[in-house]
Amino acid sequence: MNIVILAAGQGKRMHSNLPKVLHPIAGKPLAQHVIDTARRLDPEKLIVVYGHGGEIVRSMLQADDIAWAEQAQQLGTGHAVAQAVSQLGTAGQTLVLYGDVPLTTVNTLKRLLQAGKDGLSVLTVNLDNPTGYGRIVRDAAGNMVSIVEEKDATTEQKAIREVNTGIMAIPTARLGEWLGKLKNDNAQGEYYLTDIVALAVAEGLPVRTAQPEGEWEVLGVNSKVQLAELERQHQRNLADQLLVAGVRLADPARIDVRGELSHGRDVSIDVGCVFEGKVELGDAVEVGPYCVLKNVKVGAGTRIAAFCHFEDAVIGPDGVLGPYARLRPGTELGPEVHIGNFVEVKKSRIAAQSKANHLAYIGDAEIGQRVNVGAGTITCNYDGANKHLTVIEDDVFIGSDTQLVAPVRVGRGATLGAGTTLTKDAPPETLTVSRAKQLSLAGWQRPQKVKK
Ligand code: UD1
Ligand code: CA
Repeated sequence: MNIVILAAGQGKRMHSNLPKVLHPIAGKPLAQHVIDTARRLDPEKLIVVYGHGGEIVRSMLQADDIAWAEQAQQLGTGHAVAQAVSQLGTAGQTLVLYGDVPLTTVNTLKRLLQAGKDGLSVLTVNLDNPTGYGRIVRDAAGNMVSIVEEKDATTEQKAIREVNTGIMAIPTARLGEWLGKLKNDNAQGEYYLTDIVALAVAEGLPVRTAQPEGEWEVLGVNSKVQLAELERQHQRNLADQLLVAGVRLADPARIDVRGELSHGRDVSIDVGCVFEGKVELGDAVEVGPYCVLKNVKVGAGTRIAAFCHFEDAVIGPDGVLGPYARLRPGTELGPEVHIGNFVEVKKSRIAAQSKANHLAYIGDAEIGQRVNVGAGTITCNYDGANKHLTVIEDDVFIGSDTQLVAPVRVGRGATLGAGTTLTKDAPPETLTVSRAKQLSLAGWQRPQKVKK
């Protein structure tokens, strides 16, 4: 079996410099959805027909298992498939997909291929409003005889509500000859792929149809309006999958998954969260409202409060995070770590039961167990040219508003007094304070405004 994906169209109505098939649904180009679905059918050949924005399309979708066919001029869907035909061989079926129809399921395509096993098959759908689509014309016995395009249809044919989705399975052995016979003497002056149906019928080959389970599977994108509609449909589908799998969603209409979200049991997700890349949520993880998690692994039982932003981080079990926490790339938190409001952590490891609950910056640090990082603590990791490491050993207590000028080490069990600016290592089990001694000046007067 071969798959040909048509992706040469410009998409004028997108009003964009980006070729249509590269516009994203769930953070992934439309055509990439189609390619990923195609791969799951394990084709011998996977060919993308490209034209508009050729080089960008190729470089964005590039992969070892994709072959390319250029269609320099868009002369119709039949002409588009003809550009790929020399790469197809002569055996099996050729499945034609559209690069701007992203949500067709593998199951539907398998049923279509099955229906076309001994002939040709077309994926069709009944629409309340069939305007603009090719109509499926059947004979008195109900057998499909041809597809007629809207612009070429009679009034009678226009009343037909069963339409061509464009997705077809064609016997590869016949394809080249049929495409060679196509003429463009129609209303649009194009070489219609759809005309091969009548050719198959004329040869007495069985022509069958299959239908998708949901209409959204065959919806294409021609405008930003349709792009937005399909995004919501796709997100709703993903949300339903999560619900079915046992995730509690405060509102299935208010979640966005732009990647792979995996989860354990009894996970709950509040409204407005965005999951990007690969996100893993362990058992009983709670994600509060309006969090953004990108490439994050969260251990079981961790609670994330509202408005957190985490990227490329690993979070241990039973953590307590946020609200307003930011974890940047390279953050690794052990079990039962607390990261509170307005705390930023970057490229740092924080071991079990340590806490930084308020207003801190922890960058390029290694923090041991049971450490308490006071409010306003800052690791001064950058000297303007290079980054340096801060090491804080187990059971350290860091007073509020402390600066740790890296490279620096705080020994096990040490205490740093509030307001300390630490420029040298602090010895273990000792109080280190760097601030000036407190003075109280009796009789000191506040300055007075000078009267003019
Ligand atoms: C096509 C079908 C129509 C069907 C409809 C479903 C034909 C003649 N008509 O019509 O029966 O109901 O799709 O949406 O096939 N493309 C190319 N090169 C071309 C022309 C098109 O790559 O020269 C690609 C487009 O990028 C798009 C797809 O093929 O992905 C369909 O093209 P489009 O112009 O939208 O076809 P329609 O006229 O809508
Ligand atoms: Ca179309």
